Amino acid sequence: MNFEITSKKLDQISSDGLVLFAFEGDKFVPTKNLLYVDKILNGFLFNSLYFDNFKGKKNAIFSFDTQKKILASKIFVLGLGKKEEFDQNKLRSAIATFAKNYRGKLSSVSLGLLTDSETKQDIYLQSQSIAEGFILGNYLFNKYKKKDDNLKELETIIISEENKASSIKIKEGIETAKLICEGVILARDLVNEPAAVITPTSLAKIASDLAKKNKEITCKIYEREEIEKMGMGAFLGVALGSDTPPKFIHLEYSPAGSIKKEKLAIVGKGITFDSGGVSIKPESSMMTMKCDMAGAAAVLGVFSVISQIKPKMKVMGIIAATPNLISGKAFVPGDILTSMSGKTIEVLSTDAEGRLTMADAFTYTIKKGATEIIDLATLTGACEVALGTDIAGLFSNNDSLKEKLLKSSKKTGEHLWELPLLVEYKELNKSDVADISNIPSTRYGGAITGGLFLQEFVEEKPWVHLDISGPAFYEKEHELGQKGGTGFGVRLLIDLLKDL
Ligand code: BES
Ligand code: ZN
Ligand code: ZN
Repeated sequence: MNFEITSKKLDQISSDGLVLFAFEGDKFVPTKNLLYVDKILNGFLFNSLYFDNFKGKKNAIFSFDTQKKILASKIFVLGLGKKEEFDQNKLRSAIATFAKNYRGKLSSVSLGLLTDSETKQDIYLQSQSIAEGFILGNYLFNKYKKKDDNLKELETIIISEENKASSIKIKEGIETAKLICEGVILARDLVNEPAAVITPTSLAKIASDLAKKNKEITCKIYEREEIEKMGMGAFLGVALGSDTPPKFIHLEYSPAGSIKKEKLAIVGKGITFDSGGVSIKPESSMMTMKCDMAGAAAVLGVFSVISQIKPKMKVMGIIAATPNLISGKAFVPGDILTSMSGKTIEVLSTDAEGRLTMADAFTYTIKKGATEIIDLATLTGACEVALGTDIAGLFSNNDSLKEKLLKSSKKTGEHLWELPLLVEYKELNKSDVADISNIPSTRYGGAITGGLFLQEFVEEKPWVHLDISGPAFYEKEHELGQKGGTGFGVRLLIDLLKDL
């Protein structure tokens, strides 16, 4: 997808569709560009909008045939919701909804930006949101489908801007968006690929290729024997049931120059397929379980662009990758595993495997000098039940790290909601025969007891756990894209890293 900037007026640009915006009101509240084009069309555009009862509601789309009265073939008026509630997330979402709905039907789109008085955001952020909306909304995972030659590719987005200084800012905003979306799309692709394609081996290959391409990144892959030597009994327990070898992936970004002394570890759950193991999942819950490496996908998405984001701190990307399968060699309920930390874990359900792999990953990061930890994990179905599909659960032992993530969440529209690590609930994870049990004694509060289990392995380091079970994978289309992997967490973390 190409973005062009032109000094031509909106009515003077040839395209398949001209995009205009309106805010929500009793009727609708027109933007300056909408007024301008309506004047050229002698009021026909407003009349049609009134006739259609268009109110400018968030993500509403009105389409209008220009009958060649201006150079664009069609006009699309996108609703942005109420002006006082407007922010860059609404704009990104309106554009993505448009790109999604008209996918395959347009090859070029023209538009003009909102004015300063219409939006409180600067032109750089505005163009970033617009470009993200187009790129993410247009994304489709269709490589395994027969190509439909009748569908058009959205190739060109033409932005009208006369002012030279503004054009430069627009270009910068677009470049930032392209970079971020490269990371998001890598994460989406990795989640959408079947488990037969995305194995621990292929994740390891992607990680080491990233290191080869970027001089600031190194990558160390640990094979099964080395994992055994490090004493990662919890991770290895999960890996017992599959023939594909497990991989422990350690990416590290070290920027040149003077940097902060802290070292952040980002840990992603990397279960390439979760059958539940011997505690097998029902068919309906297993169908989407190729998504159980969405945390790992987000880590790789972030590392694919981290050298261009340039955080001023060392950052580790950690993935303990294995599928959770069944075989004669698989671990079974009742097994007791010794984790790398030395703590023993009674396995009462082989389906609570994520916390086992994460526990060893945490101990490893601390041994390697991590001073703070953020993890992303499709850890519990309970979190999706608690918060729905659009919100990830946030759990933390540290207010300052938590606030940073909540700030990035507001800016990116990747929703987080804090759930408590209630000390009293620790009781629920007790085991009769080991230091801790991998499932709680009640199914109520499952997202919290999952978080409390993880907390046992972070050794009081500042830590944020994001349970992304809901927003990592959609079974229906969503605001910023089609069904499937969303790349959740990539935009959030990139925003966080920018300010480190
Ligand atoms: N990968 C699942 C959690 C999950 C469920 C992610 C739905 C995305 C969508 C995880 O390994 C799991 O199975 N957790 C169990 C934990 C329970 C046994 C304590 C669960 O949520 O049922
Ligand atoms: Zn599971
Ligand atoms: Zn899982």
